[in-house]
Amino acid sequence: MSRRHRITIVGAGMTGASAAQWCAARELGDVVLFDVVEGLPQGKALDLAEAAPLLAADARVTGTGSWADTAGSDVVVVTAGVPRKPGMSRRELLGTNHRIVADVTKAAAAASPDAVFIILTNPVDVMCSVALRATGLPPARVFGQAGVLDTTRFRAFVASELDVSVEDVHALVLGGHGDTMVPLVRLAAVGGVPLSALLPPEAIARAVERTRGAGAEIVGLLKNASAYCAPGAALCEMVAAVLHDKGRLLPAPAYLQGEYGLSGLYTGVPIVLDGGGVRRVVEVPLQPEERAAFLRSAEEVRSALAELPQG
Ligand code: 2OP
Repeated sequence: MSRRHRITIVGAGMTGASAAQWCAARELGDVVLFDVVEGLPQGKALDLAEAAPLLAADARVTGTGSWADTAGSDVVVVTAGVPRKPGMSRRELLGTNHRIVADVTKAAAAASPDAVFIILTNPVDVMCSVALRATGLPPARVFGQAGVLDTTRFRAFVASELDVSVEDVHALVLGGHGDTMVPLVRLAAVGGVPLSALLPPEAIARAVERTRGAGAEIVGLLKNASAYCAPGAALCEMVAAVLHDKGRLLPAPAYLQGEYGLSGLYTGVPIVLDGGGVRRVVEVPLQPEERAAFLRSAEEVRSALAELPQG
């Protein structure tokens, strides 16, 4: 019997398989890939398991369509649902994805009542609320992945503008995972030097706009899929923070209970992430225009939330 951590990834599509690959390659634990499509999780898991010797990665990767095989997971990652098509907003996926997310999170929580749940399915801020209701778990153990992805995109664009290492670019993107997300330019820095001292305003504006539209840019190119490599890597980064009990400060859709003057909804804020999930929400002092942009973005999430059927 393995004493490694167990990570269940629900949804064996492109993002689920990508997250499984990153988690296995980093030896974060044994990975169980779950999907209702017969053969899909089994086939993708087998393919990944066969790559393990090349990566010198001791992680068992298995595929299943049975919740019993996911029992006792430490982390459950939810990627199940449909992605966008070109021209669609993430919000347009709400009608299809909310039932899927409610069903899978309820079943996964019954099998793994002590797990930390990380939701990726879009519209992610709303799907976190769906998962919270369906599982009945404390909000600390139900949160989303969005800000890690939005931030890595911003960092990649800034590094490319400056022709410097991606490693040295630090940034924070707040708000809902949509066109109104708020890259906090004032706090972005490269090796400790404020971004505004290194790049002209028009180059910073380019990086901000490209970050906001980054998901749509990739959907437009792929046409029949949305991004999956960076989303999978972002999920893996969060799984690592949980399983290594890191206490990382990362942006993520978290349940607000008075922080930033908001309650009863999920939106992207900095959190301290450790083995128990969200240890706390960090309140960053915002300038008036940053606060206004953040509240506009949260308002988008609240109005999407109102579209959910009650009960
Ligand atoms: C994205 O931004 C899938 O929402 C995800 O690419």
